[in-house]
Amino acid sequence: RRHLLGINGLKPHEIVDLLDRAENAVAVSRRPDKKNSVLKGRTQINLFFEASTRTQASFEIAGKRLGADVMNMSVANSSVKKGETLIDTAMTLNAMQPDILIVRHHSAGAVALLSQKVACSVVNAGDGQHEHPTQALLDALTIRRHKGPDFHQLTVVICGDVLHSRVARSNILLLNALGARVRVVAPSTLLPRGIEQMGVEIVHDMRAGLKDADVVMMLRLQRERMEGAFVPSVREYFRYFGLDAEKLRHARPDALVMHPGPMNRGVEIASDVADGPQSVIEEQVEMGVAVRMAVIESLIGWPGDNR
Ligand code: CP
Repeated sequence: RRHLLGINGLKPHEIVDLLDRAENAVAVSRRPDKKNSVLKGRTQINLFFEASTRTQASFEIAGKRLGADVMNMSVANSSVKKGETLIDTAMTLNAMQPDILIVRHHSAGAVALLSQKVACSVVNAGDGQHEHPTQALLDALTIRRHKGPDFHQLTVVICGDVLHSRVARSNILLLNALGARVRVVAPSTLLPRGIEQMGVEIVHDMRAGLKDADVVMMLRLQRERMEGAFVPSVREYFRYFGLDAEKLRHARPDALVMHPGPMNRGVEIASDVADGPQSVIEEQVEMGVAVRMAVIESLIGWPGDNR
């Protein structure tokens, strides 16, 4: 049984293989009849301990498009509320013979721990501030569709609350693996310790940081994860680190504007930019379904099946 727990550990050719598979899934998803039976007889359980719109919905749609039986575990109404632990919950579901568990949890490392206890494949749908591998894959697919397959030519600028962002971490790992130049733009208070060792350039001024950018990836300001310490005022944050039309002009004219969602409009991104001609934010959501189809099929597809 194989898992996807993070971008860390994936080889570049494995990333490219998943992106190629996802490209096929885009074509399938755009057909009038979107469904096939590649995973007929397989059971997928989505187990989300943290809120989600995009990731949970797209994993459910992805499993169903592949013909799997998909069950969304409602954690809010489950025995977790009576004190059942993560592992006991996972073991209980494991006893129902699923083929794959899709898990989001608020603690870094929780999904990897769970994967050691169950007999099925496990996908990390976001664990604390650690990794969100399918987000990085869908971001890479979106970039590749616009900028081509050679990431060595690209400068990708990741802006904002890097400290709390599993999306930033997975993206840095993936973009480095494919050879892109990665720059992060953030106040020093919103950068994790040791970020320099991840092979990124660090800039604190947004306009300087956006110079020559082919891709501008904005991050949500995760105020709910800021306890007591530095919580910037929204107005001040937007002034210095919010992406508006004037700041975007410092990037290349054909730069893509990306955001993993959910967005705080007027905090890290202005509405006219989020909805503007350079934005690929909705396309990211579409690619999310395709990438998740690719991941699920690669982990639990029937060997040799060409249905
Ligand atoms: N990008 C992302 O993970 O969004 P959700 O929290 O809505 O799943």
